[in-house]
Amino acid sequence: MTRGIALTMLLVSCVGCGVPDSEVPAAAQKIFRERCFGCHGADGQKRGGFASILDTNALLDAEVIVAGDADSSVLIEEVESGSMPKTGDSLTTGQISILRRWINGGMQAAASG
Ligand code: HEC
Repeated sequence: MTRGIALTMLLVSCVGCGVPDSEVPAAAQKIFRERCFGCHGADGQKRGGFASILDTNALLDAEVIVAGDADSSVLIEEVESGSMPKTGDSLTTGQISILRRWINGGMQAAASG
């Protein structure tokens, strides 16, 4: 019984950890591209105060992310509450974990290619 709970906790805490740190920036960019860019970038409108979800500086300027601090980032609040993406399915726990790691890791740019 105790072992079962411990195992469950281990699995839950490990959501998204199959992605190595080096692949987090590209994985975050993929989520932004697939789920956010249509409303935050494609048409140049400044919804939410920033022109493109793929422009990290714009996200910082709009104060929707706080460098190195996912817990204080509005963007994380929005995806965890399900407010964003505004349409379609909410992000999965694994996807949110990727975005948290990207912010906490200092928002590295994805390797180009
Ligand atoms: C269907 C369009 C749409 C999609 C898809 C979408 N958004 Fe938004 N987003 C908006 C609009 C419109 C606003 C302006 C505020 C409002 O109307 O709710 C906004 C506002 C925001 C804000 C600012 C909230 C604030 O309180 O300042 C953030 C952060 C945000 N979106 C993040 C995201 C992220 C991250 C995704 C993808 C996971 C996403 N959005 C997908 C339409 C969208």
